Amino acid sequence: MTDIHDLRSYIAALDAVGQLARVTREVSLKHELADVAASIDRNDIGAGMFENVTDSPWPIFCGSVTSHRRAAVALGCEANEIIDVMERVLEPANGIAPVRVDTAAWHDNYVTGADIDTAMLPIPVHSRGDGGAFITGAVTVAKDPISGRGNLGYNRMLRLAPDRFGFNVNEWRDVGTFWKSRDDPSAPFPVALAIGLDPAIMIAGGVKTPVDELMIAGAIRGRGIEVCPGRTVDVDIPAAAEIVVEGFIHPTVREPEGPLAEFHGYHGEQWNSPTFEVTCIAWRNDPIYQTIIPGWYEHIYIGNVLPREPLLRRFVRHLDKTADVHIPPYGNGFLAIIQIDRDNPGTPKNLAMAALAAHINVRNVIVIDRDVDMYEPSEIQWALTNRVHWGDDVFTVPFAQGHEMDPTADQRGISTKVGIDATYKRERREYGERVSYPPVDLGKYLN
Ligand SMILES: Cc1cc2nc3c(=O)[nH]c(=O)nc-3n(C[C@H](O)[C@H](O)[C@H](O)COP(=O)(O)O)c2cc1C
Repeated sequence: MTDIHDLRSYIAALDAVGQLARVTREVSLKHELADVAASIDRNDIGAGMFENVTDSPWPIFCGSVTSHRRAAVALGCEANEIIDVMERVLEPANGIAPVRVDTAAWHDNYVTGADIDTAMLPIPVHSRGDGGAFITGAVTVAKDPISGRGNLGYNRMLRLAPDRFGFNVNEWRDVGTFWKSRDDPSAPFPVALAIGLDPAIMIAGGVKTPVDELMIAGAIRGRGIEVCPGRTVDVDIPAAAEIVVEGFIHPTVREPEGPLAEFHGYHGEQWNSPTFEVTCIAWRNDPIYQTIIPGWYEHIYIGNVLPREPLLRRFVRHLDKTADVHIPPYGNGFLAIIQIDRDNPGTPKNLAMAALAAHINVRNVIVIDRDVDMYEPSEIQWALTNRVHWGDDVFTVPFAQGHEMDPTADQRGISTKVGIDATYKRERREYGERVSYPPVDLGKYLN
């Protein structure tokens, strides 16, 4: 069991395994920080720790969970065990309830009332198409007014004024269901934004489930996550957060909010969103601000990869008990890879059909053999190029239901789903084994 219990212990764990990229050169909050962070992700160098950000008194951390190498550190397992761990912690019976404590790291410093100024938060302007400075890496903490259970989720928030944000919430999110379930659905609704977190809480926040996602974070850590009520809102906030922003959503007081880089790789629309009135900003000593680069790897990894791979695997393993699966972040949640020991020539297409049914988002499925590395995009391209006869090995399902934001779909998410058998068909033409140069430790050969 890992001893990660907050953002700082995670940063130390990443540093210990060479998975932390410290950026000491001064960078601007406007575009430059996101550009550098995206390049760090593209090369899978590590999480980014920006120690010198113009106009920011605090360092900024990003790229917490953007690859299976980092997810393995966050979950305290090997990369090939990630789906097993996620499957276990997503099982409601394995949840571990949060533990209430009296003190929190962020009790040390706070501002309320007229002293509040959201400009004190170093919120980057990430993508050039974004409509302003957005909080993207906060976990929204809320409480169901009927059952009293807690909830975690993500909501983009556009800074509008010294005490106000635009708060994006899609219609089917739990936080929206909560405020609508009250006698007066338009009354101000209390939430807190927790920023700078143990990655177990970040991962849990991306899961859509009818139980408190803090139970999932607890299951990851093997102990209850410590929580503490806010100063101005009665919700249970992770006690080890670096920064906490408390306030009230005004469901019917709306302002334009957006666009922001989206998980599908384009910019989303501008919405007429509820506003979020800030009532307290609290922070621990020398806090670390955390952001998620929107429309980039972590956005997809937390929202589409980690929470979805276990069910995908269950569907596929119903047909083939040894098949492995991966939802690669570069496929934006629309692509699934299945890896098998091929025997029957028809099985790959059946497995692709099972995968297409597992999640509404999954639109393209590629089935590969064991000699292709499913985590390497160039390997997938090799299999597509050299093992697919496009006339025989591909099937399409026109007018299938997909995600409404799928850029290939119409407004209602109707698109064509595709299954591709990219396995080696020896019965078609025997070509011997694939060229293979086993990897070596280059440190022994290069100066
Ligand atoms: C980085 C990130 C950003 C997100 N931004 C938003 C957002 O702006 N609005 C929204 O409604 N959902 C957003 N989501 C999706 C949900 O917050 C998330 O899937 C969560 O699990 C919702 O679950 P809940 O309904 O149980 O609260 C985002 C997800 C991620 C990972």
